[in-house]
Amino acid sequence: MKKIVVFLGAPGAGKGTAAAAVASSTGARHVSTGAMLRDAVSRGTPAGLEAKSYMEAGGLVPDEVLYKMVGELLADAPDGTILFFDGFPRNVAQAEALSGLAASGGAEVAGAVCLDVSKDALLARLGGRRVCPTCGAGYHVATLPPKKEGVCDKCGAALVVRADDQPATIAHRLEVYEKATAPVIGFYETSGALRRIDASGPAADVAALVENAVKALV
Ligand code: AP5
Repeated sequence: MKKIVVFLGAPGAGKGTAAAAVASSTGARHVSTGAMLRDAVSRGTPAGLEAKSYMEAGGLVPDEVLYKMVGELLADAPDGTILFFDGFPRNVAQAEALSGLAASGGAEVAGAVCLDVSKDALLARLGGRRVCPTCGAGYHVATLPPKKEGVCDKCGAALVVRADDQPATIAHRLEVYEKATAPVIGFYETSGALRRIDASGPAADVAALVENAVKALV
């Protein structure tokens, strides 16, 4: 059986940073639907062409695009894999659909961890984020700077600001989060499989809290 742990939290809460760190320390697989969609956009695939305008505006990509992507990924994952879902589900309809997608792919949802951060911290994290367009590594100008300014430590490529990290788009993403995604927290709270994390501390502290929460779920 494959097991899924869902990572919840607002844009910039640190889902990707914590999921990558804990995946690396536990051998789990980090699945970021945002990263998969950005890759599809950059390669110009049919899914990418459909997703591009929604992502640039900071809105949600149509559910059907995600269902196809997630269904294929689950079917391909080897039995016994623990998958950290970062960015999916992002509305209650997706949360309901995930149970069926998981069953078809030989998986079950073990539970969810939710990273709680104040709005001021979210804005500071998103405003200082830099990403590597080549290998996907993430940085922050103040809290996680690369060794050489503007250059990826891992592959040497020039770092960029994500297209949806412009102030107006960030504001819209936070609105979409409150309206569409925050209710997903209640969905997992009702099933009793939700762990809430105070994610306001440094990344290493958050990763340790998340690792404990994940171990209690899987
Ligand atoms: P996605 O890529 O999922 O973006 P998001 O949810 O807005 O989340 P972010 O990646 O912005 O934040 P994060 O919480 O991962 O923070 P990070 O670790 O990077 O989605 C992008 C778009 O794709 C969506 O808007 C939508 O259009 C589309 N999409 C994706 N999934 C979809 C779905 N299921 N349905 C429909 N559409 C979908 O950290 C942020 C910064 O803070 C970094 O610089 C990091 O270094 C820093 N940082 C992290 N943790 C800490 C810490 N503890 N202390 C200090 N700094 C920290």
